[in-house]
Amino acid sequence: MGKRQFLIAGNWKMNGGPYQAAELLDGLKEKKKNISEDVDVVVCPPFVSLGMAVQHLHNSDIQVGAQDLYFENNGAYTGEISAAMLVESGCNYVIIGHSERRRYFAETDDLVNKKAKKAITEKIIPIVCVGESLDERKNNTHFNIVSDQVKKALKDISDTEILDVVIAYEPIWAIGTGETATPAQAQQMHVHIRSRLAELYDDETASAIGIIYGGSMKPANAEELLTQPDVDGGLIGGASLEAESFAELITIAENIS
Ligand code: PGA
Repeated sequence: MGKRQFLIAGNWKMNGGPYQAAELLDGLKEKKKNISEDVDVVVCPPFVSLGMAVQHLHNSDIQVGAQDLYFENNGAYTGEISAAMLVESGCNYVIIGHSERRRYFAETDDLVNKKAKKAITEKIIPIVCVGESLDERKNNTHFNIVSDQVKKALKDISDTEILDVVIAYEPIWAIGTGETATPAQAQQMHVHIRSRLAELYDDETASAIGIIYGGSMKPANAEELLTQPDVDGGLIGGASLEAESFAELITIAENIS
């Protein structure tokens, strides 16, 4: 088995219009002139800033992703953005099924699956998010909840297609709360997810799939998380909004890889 590639992905959420995006990305480029080829780096700004991001990251090692897509090709879906539009805009990645979308916009596992499949068809790498709530962890149902999300999100995705999917484990209680899963909790869930992937596909395939962690990752806790054997990178919200901290996270990943 080859070594899995690290992925450091910035999820800007609803922050950063085009001008702010330009400023942040110029700052980031200044701080990270070269990025090790062992680490993939992607920023996911709001839709309206994608064009500016692509323009400012031209000739850099940083790639651009979106935070969502709609699974239909085109048509009367007011407010939605298709996968083909993202490709045309220069996106290589797309976040799918983030817990905020599941919670505030009622995204179901079925919708997450349709979106992930559409991303694969259009050759954009989906970062498929799964993760349990605090209650689910307290009730000790977290492993079952995450197993179920993984299985439903990946329905009808073939054993070759899955190799171009990234899974993000994001415990909801750790998102934007300053509370982080302990390295042991993250590792344990990543191993659990990988064993579900081995059931759905096979061992070799499961060991090739990137599983990244998200939830209050920042320079102060990144090293202990990223050195866990099954943690293949991070999906970073708050700490991706400052060039300094995002650059530092990339450097930490480079030093570990
Ligand atoms: P956070 O967000 O790093 O601000 O906790 C992570 C995410 O929701 O992707």
